[in-house]
Amino acid sequence: MGNFERLNFSHPLFDDLDHQRMTEVCAAVRGYSDARHYGFFRTLFAQAEIERVLLLGVYFGRDIIFMLDAARRACRQISITGVDKFSDDACADWPSDRLGCSWEQAGFGTAPSLAAAQHTIATFGGGAEVRLIRQHDEAFLEGCTDRFDLIYLDTAHDAATVRRQLRQAAPLLAPGGVLAGDDYSDQGTWGVRSALSEVAPGHAVFAGWIWVAAREHLAAAARVIA
Ligand SMILES: C[S@@+](CC[C@H](N)C(=O)[O-])C[C@H]1O[C@@H](n2cnc3c(N)ncnc32)[C@H](O)[C@@H]1O
Repeated sequence: MGNFERLNFSHPLFDDLDHQRMTEVCAAVRGYSDARHYGFFRTLFAQAEIERVLLLGVYFGRDIIFMLDAARRACRQISITGVDKFSDDACADWPSDRLGCSWEQAGFGTAPSLAAAQHTIATFGGGAEVRLIRQHDEAFLEGCTDRFDLIYLDTAHDAATVRRQLRQAAPLLAPGGVLAGDDYSDQGTWGVRSALSEVAPGHAVFAGWIWVAAREHLAAAARVIA
């Protein structure tokens, strides 16, 4: 049975301890992820056999810390490869009038940096199991020969990026592996929901915000959109 078939979202895990820890992490680490993400990782790691994780889009490391917590609670040993461009140029889903801006100019605060993410993750207990790579995700996916049990997409959320990532990431999944990501919406410049509906119509959605798809959902689509 693959990890997707093992998932049951009807009783998500998120207890008082999770709430306390999540609040602590969110107060100290810049990011957008919240109780939905924490609960998703807790539920996923409790149910699915996941050892090797690839995260595209590290930012300041909040999701990585959430994942490390979730793995610890599920008594799982995981390794996480986190890829981020860690640069001050625009992301593909920024509004068109801000594409030439720096992060500060665009109103998004200071740009994420590799050093800041490494420091924050170490402060929250991450060690050698976390490998951060400063690279554009497209180039990383193109050259990667590793295989992963979970690939979590969290860079730009425009439809073209998500379609491209699904195509590139599908062959990097280990047997039984799953793809997931957040911001399941087509609001503004985003197109996550429509890209998923088009490329992996069998996907599931957690808390209305985080999608999950199995390798099988993507195999045919990966060929179609290649
Ligand atoms: C929404 S944030 C990720 C949030 C993160 N998962 C967390 O835990 O807080 C998006 C991140 O994707 C990165 N990014 C955007 N486009 C990218 C690309 N093409 N390649 C690599 N990283 C990218 C940005 O630098 C930013 O740090």
